[in-house]
Amino acid sequence: TIPVITLDGPAASGKGTIAERVGSALGFHYLDSGALYRIATLAALDAGVALDDEAALAELCRGLSPVFAEGRILVAGEDVTERIRSEEVSRATSRVAALPAVRRALFELQRRAARTPGLVADGRDMGTVVFPEARLKVFMTASARVRAERRFKQLAARGVAADLDELTRDLEERDRRDRERATAPLRPADDAHVLDTSEMNVEEVVKKVLDWWSD
Ligand code: CDP
Repeated sequence: TIPVITLDGPAASGKGTIAERVGSALGFHYLDSGALYRIATLAALDAGVALDDEAALAELCRGLSPVFAEGRILVAGEDVTERIRSEEVSRATSRVAALPAVRRALFELQRRAARTPGLVADGRDMGTVVFPEARLKVFMTASARVRAERRFKQLAARGVAADLDELTRDLEERDRRDRERATAPLRPADDAHVLDTSEMNVEEVVKKVLDWWSD
């Protein structure tokens, strides 16, 4: 079996950064499952598909073949790396991701990411639904304020102005929707290590995950 590490947690908990760092330390592939939900949502917005038309959205998901290369994401030849991170897409994605048919449509695409020598998978349900057999499962949390501040800095680094209070409200609203949905709600797997990163820097978190991995 292929070794898998799952990193789940709420919005802006730092999973992406940690997953990439752990992945490159171990030479593993990296699955950004949130990007898949974002790509599907952007495609729906562009095509004018209603965000509650579950059958049409699932059909659209089955037709997706995004290419991840050198930090860029291409969909049907278009570089969507920046567009999928907009706040508009973030908000819409948490609605689309609540639809069971959408989650089923993206399941196989995610399973196929597990290739030798191993995979680090980042998302909401990697440890609970997509890779229940994973050898190491981590559930990362941080206070809403700390997460909003991290997202604020990410946006600032890209030259995007944002309002900290509005970001905090958006994150809390998305978390609530992710936790309360009926299908694959956000929660730690029974066998996950829960890690509160509010007071930790990136190096400390990476070290913690690698320590658990080599245990
Ligand atoms: O970067 P951030 O943590 O804000 O979001 P993301 O990981 O890119 O995920 C965007 C949205 O996709 C989340 O708010 C979830 O609603 C949804 N998602 C999901 O339902 N299941 C996953 N495995 C990953 C993301």
